[in-house]
Amino acid sequence: MSASKNSTRYGVFDPGFRIDDDLTVIEHLGGSRKVDIYLCRSKSRKELVACKVLNARFTIDFSSLEAVMEEGEILSVMRHPNVIAGYDVELEPYPRVIMEYLGGQTISTTFFQGNWEAFDVEDFVNIGIQLCDALEYIHSRGYVHLDVKPSNVMYDDGDVTLFDFSVAEEYTPEDTLRDNAGTVEYMAPEQTYRREIGHATDVFGVGVVLYELLTGGELPFPVIRIEDSDERRGYRRELDYSERPAAPSQHNPKIWPDLDSVALQAIETEYDLRIQTPKALRIALASALERQT
Ligand SMILES: Nc1ncnc2c1ncn2[C@@H]1O[C@H](COP(=O)(O)OP(=O)(O)O)[C@@H](O)[C@H]1O
Ligand SMILES: [Mg+2]
Repeated sequence: MSASKNSTRYGVFDPGFRIDDDLTVIEHLGGSRKVDIYLCRSKSRKELVACKVLNARFTIDFSSLEAVMEEGEILSVMRHPNVIAGYDVELEPYPRVIMEYLGGQTISTTFFQGNWEAFDVEDFVNIGIQLCDALEYIHSRGYVHLDVKPSNVMYDDGDVTLFDFSVAEEYTPEDTLRDNAGTVEYMAPEQTYRREIGHATDVFGVGVVLYELLTGGELPFPVIRIEDSDERRGYRRELDYSERPAAPSQHNPKIWPDLDSVALQAIETEYDLRIQTPKALRIALASALERQT
């Protein structure tokens, strides 16, 4: 192990590094504070795989190890065209989850650092529909994802795959969250305030992604800072849900009224008024496409 030339990150593996007997690093794909993701060649599988490795700084942290195990266990049951498939999870010598390698680029790269103008509204609705299919499947397996956002969705020539199950949980009704991990901009009020969550909590995440896609990158709710002495910085970031978002058509005149109304119903702040399931959102999006004016 040595620090990569192009990175100041601690303990990033270089190309050619052997993670274990089976996996050789080809390229560092991404990472955050706690994990790094590598494209690897797998000897036994005779194919490319992705490997999410816990950063060495956190291998003595029990809750981080537990999180790797949990993500690996959840991924191991996922088999759906719009959901990342997991292959294996190992703790020694480097805690890691081995999974399907996804080609393409994330939605954030494709559309928000790329050429949003080149796509039609229909393309965006089709992304929303595939995300609903992914979540309907995830929910049917007994889990909630809780971190649907553009950088956790891969886009490859029209095909969409949802990944990053790092905050996903087994779902039981009347569940409240252990913590409000997730990503501020995409979190429904019940996730932000750690109230009872449900399948519509993931609908909200899809709704925010769809809103961004339809509007070319606008967020429906503004992020504000709330003073919080428990936080190291003295504040926490949170969405301000107090004002109803503008209809997407106010940002993009190509959006028609039926689609406006579905997009807004997916991000209703009141849980019971929101579209309740990914399946219901899928149906509403498909019929809005049919009623395109
Ligand atoms: N299976 C995969 N195939 C290809 N790229 C991936 C894969 N998993 C992750 N990545 C890349 O690594 C980045 C971070 O991965 P992610 O699982 O979202 O980790 P984090 O928990 O740090 O957000 C992604 O945005 C994506 O660019
Ligand atoms: Mg992620």
